[in-house]
Amino acid sequence: MTKPIILTGDRPTGKLHIGHYVGSLQNRVRLQNEDKYQMFVFLADQQALTDHAKDPQTIVESVGNVALDYLAAGLDPEKSTIFIQSQIPELAELSMYYMNLVSLARLERNPTVKTEIAQKGFGESIPTGFLVYPIAQAADITAFKANSVPVGNDQKPMIEQTREIVRSFNHAYNCDVLVEPEGIYPENEAAGRLPGLDGNAKMSKSLGNGIYLADDADTLRKKVMSMYTDPNHIKVEDPGQIEGNMVFHYLDVFGRKEDQADIQAMKEHYQAGGLGDVKTKRYLLEILERELGPIRERRLEFAKDMGQVYDMLKKGSQAAQEVAAQTLDEVKAAMGINYFK
Ligand code: TRP
Repeated sequence: MTKPIILTGDRPTGKLHIGHYVGSLQNRVRLQNEDKYQMFVFLADQQALTDHAKDPQTIVESVGNVALDYLAAGLDPEKSTIFIQSQIPELAELSMYYMNLVSLARLERNPTVKTEIAQKGFGESIPTGFLVYPIAQAADITAFKANSVPVGNDQKPMIEQTREIVRSFNHAYNCDVLVEPEGIYPENEAAGRLPGLDGNAKMSKSLGNGIYLADDADTLRKKVMSMYTDPNHIKVEDPGQIEGNMVFHYLDVFGRKEDQADIQAMKEHYQAGGLGDVKTKRYLLEILERELGPIRERRLEFAKDMGQVYDMLKKGSQAAQEVAAQTLDEVKAAMGINYFK
């Protein structure tokens, strides 16, 4: 019996932070270890280049960093195929054929593309490659005949557009070569998006409010000690607020079952007054260190031999290419352009 196929990717534009970890990475590792799926995980460097064309160095460095983050978090190349998008030329070739099935107006209506165009301030100079990246993303997904694509809610329009392309292709060429994927979305927004240390709704590199999987113990401690709590909780005796208090928010996200009684008691004590922020932060630090310490150690271990990491990526890319080439053959056959077969 063939296993259902799961595929996900990240744009390598920096190291991964703990928001990525709780939002998706942890879940991928869990799915991988369930052994029920065939997993493909990839570094979408080509997609990252659609808005970093003149700054490839950042993307190139991030490929190594994100690969280390993956391995450190528990993705295992023996179980999952980990690869680099740009090393699979078949993806670009598939995109060429899909482009003819998608109107410019449809791309311009894609809500995620619209938001990003506004955010990135392209003005009148939207790179063509950027505008068509949803089509390239459809190629990523369909090349591997992915059944399930676990992504954030912001990616819903990409999955929707991929499904349209699949239907359009199969209909136009009267075949069932391409597979319609399902998006798998975070069950609740809170789990899907971890706020920053400063309370900002988004943890991001540009806001400087993140904790990275690569952070050393001292950096982690300093960051936790600087976290946004309750600005009105001035004296220890003051009653404090737990809503909007990042320490308690993170405790809810990172606490395990066996911590729940302690967390609950701490919340009550804080709200009643008499519990200082430093104590709550020390406790959070313990919880975070328990989760992140082993990841950090593994990351350091893998980082000692980057040659081996790139070897792993090369093997993954070769394996991925075989799958993509098979799909491309089927696509060309369906279109009748397999002249020399
Ligand atoms: N667009 C995704 C992001 O910004 C990255 C990505 C590229 C992706 N291709 C993909 C995700 C295919 C899932 C499947 O995070």
